Amino acid sequence: RYDAKIDSLMNLMTIDEKIGQLNLPAAGDISTGLAQSSGIAVKIKEGKVGGLFNIRGLDKIREAQRVAVEESRLGIPLIFAMDVIHGYKTVFPIPIGLSCTWDMDMIRESARIAANEATADGIAWTFSPMVDISRDPRWGRIAEGVGEDPYLGYQISYAMVKGYQSDDLTKNNTMMACVKHFALYGASEAGRDYNTVDMSRIRMFNEYLPPYKGAVDAGVGSVMASFNEIDGIPATGNKWLMTDLLRERWGFDGFIVTDYTGINEMIAHGMGDLQQVSALALKAGIDMDMVGEGFLTTLKKSLEEGKIKEEDIDKACRRILEAKYMLGLFDDPYKYMDENRSKTEIFTEENRKKAREIAANSFVLLKNDNNTLPLAKEGTIALIGPMADNRENMPGTWSVAADFKNSVSVLDGLKNVVGSDVEILTARGANFVKDPKLDERISVFGKPTYRDSRSEEEMIKEAVEIADKSDVIVAAIGESSEMSGESSSRTSIKIPKTQRNLLKELLKTGKPVILVVFTGRPLDLSWEDENVPAILNVWFGGTETGNAIADVLFGDVNPSGKLSVTFPRNIGQVPIFYNHKNTGRPITKEWFQKFKSNYLDVPNTPLYPFGYGLSYTNFEYSDMSLSSTDLTGDASLEVSVQVTNSGPKDGAEVVQLYIRDMVGSTTRPVKELKKFEKIFLKAGESREVKFNLTTKDLEYYTYPDSDSGKELVKIWEPGEFEIMIGTNSADTQSEMITWNKKSSK
Ligand code: IFM
Repeated sequence: RYDAKIDSLMNLMTIDEKIGQLNLPAAGDISTGLAQSSGIAVKIKEGKVGGLFNIRGLDKIREAQRVAVEESRLGIPLIFAMDVIHGYKTVFPIPIGLSCTWDMDMIRESARIAANEATADGIAWTFSPMVDISRDPRWGRIAEGVGEDPYLGYQISYAMVKGYQSDDLTKNNTMMACVKHFALYGASEAGRDYNTVDMSRIRMFNEYLPPYKGAVDAGVGSVMASFNEIDGIPATGNKWLMTDLLRERWGFDGFIVTDYTGINEMIAHGMGDLQQVSALALKAGIDMDMVGEGFLTTLKKSLEEGKIKEEDIDKACRRILEAKYMLGLFDDPYKYMDENRSKTEIFTEENRKKAREIAANSFVLLKNDNNTLPLAKEGTIALIGPMADNRENMPGTWSVAADFKNSVSVLDGLKNVVGSDVEILTARGANFVKDPKLDERISVFGKPTYRDSRSEEEMIKEAVEIADKSDVIVAAIGESSEMSGESSSRTSIKIPKTQRNLLKELLKTGKPVILVVFTGRPLDLSWEDENVPAILNVWFGGTETGNAIADVLFGDVNPSGKLSVTFPRNIGQVPIFYNHKNTGRPITKEWFQKFKSNYLDVPNTPLYPFGYGLSYTNFEYSDMSLSSTDLTGDASLEVSVQVTNSGPKDGAEVVQLYIRDMVGSTTRPVKELKKFEKIFLKAGESREVKFNLTTKDLEYYTYPDSDSGKELVKIWEPGEFEIMIGTNSADTQSEMITWNKKSSK
């Protein structure tokens, strides 16, 4: 692409200028890493910068571009990047929340709006989507991902890339996406961020890689390397990963950027000095070096010493230039810098309306005994907890462009929805955590979270007094927004003790308590599940959180979110995920069986399974039927089920289809999501939902003939399959089929 233009430009470039294109400093307006870049303006003039990120504001961006275009020798434009992760100024739910909508149109739309807003403010390139599968709630970055499932993750990844890029990067309101973190970052040992990853190829290909592949299939323009190692070689220096797999096997033709100082960190990984690791990264297939300047300061020396070839540098430089051509930056370096768009297209009423709708769809109703919810729009509500009257914590982690004061708190939201019909009394009730030092660590972009100086007892006393005067209690508690996200791993996944103490006292009042849980990870809610009548998990819903919560609490929106990740009974069950293998000693009854694979102290089942989420109405599944139970070759199977909304309210349901491949040349999971559809049914309405399965849906990566010495191949193997359909991964009805290569008759 653009070969002739790139050839003639590269003919004019010195080796220093080519290396300069591979350099991506951080402007420092937003802090997303430890090291800081310096002397950026001078470097731009000298042609030593290819792009810039963490720079905020149209004027600054325009000026940096002017220096590149007018003052550097060849006038090559810069590409401006930012972590636009779940929205720009209009912030959508954190990605784990978005994934719980199971609504690909909504997810695509959120990325489309984010791209429209960010490009109106000068940004051409986003470091999103983050699609790292994770089954470890200790890991803080599980908040940024797509959950635990490869199929759902693939669909989300695909939808996000389409949303950002819209199949046309020449427009001024589309932006280049960057799928990250390639690869397997979500499997870091013990859930500790940046930790080692070690995984079999079978697991990697079948369970962890599909979402990245989804982005590549959608035409993603760039890929970010992960911090972790893979097979003992850090991803940033891993040629098998970046070149053999990503480029050659998958056909990715964009460029690859490191994560923040990813090259330099290979020194600590024990891969050599800066010169060695920079050469390693380049030869592995990395094109752009984020912040660390390993490329800038060592590649020329490596070239002179014969450690790399000029064609290695050329390849990388060509890819960066190609991206700039594709974005149309050579035609108009200022194409994203339109004052008018910046003033009129950001944080619009329309965008906020969409954000409110999406947020309400991301909430997952975990429990609702005796129809505690929805609330009547009358009487007195006690709104209690550190999240009750709090704006800065609403958007959630990685909301780098958000104006926190503009987000809607729960208190604002309740008032907006019920006006003066309902009296709302409020109290903070507790700080997020007891330990002030921990509070410092969880500051939002360096701004310490507000801490109430009163004692725990005083705060609880005030809250209980208010609760006593009310008809119902809404407890808005959980993690603060920076208790998840990067570098925010936890070894306890419970609601912090100060807040649990508050909840206990609120329950003692005997008033109905609705727990509105804020979290960036699956929490251990076993105690809450046992003691609180209604639990609504709201993740972090973005700018419109408060309005969306009110919409759901008062029943204007019927909740329809379904978990994209398993909620364990306790931390000891981790990793726990629905698509596990059977083992040689599976339990055959609920629990407990000696010499079988189970625990002494808790069942194997989770607290809330993958795919789970309640509604204010009921959905009944009946008449599951298959077009055939004996299939051959390339036939296709139609699976249908009747779904009836038998409850009192209109609502949406995610109908889920799973399969189990009973016998394989390598062991197969007990269940795998293969299809889903989100349907809307009016109260009393019934609909037949149909899915079509082909042998493509049966394919998986395996070692032929069960010989792990052979290369992995993607095939389907004939035999028996269980087809399951239902409302969540643990509540399905099923039928057996055989699917043979040739007719058995
Ligand atoms: O995009 C991020 C990445 O996810 C984590 N490290 C910093 C990058 C740039 O801000």
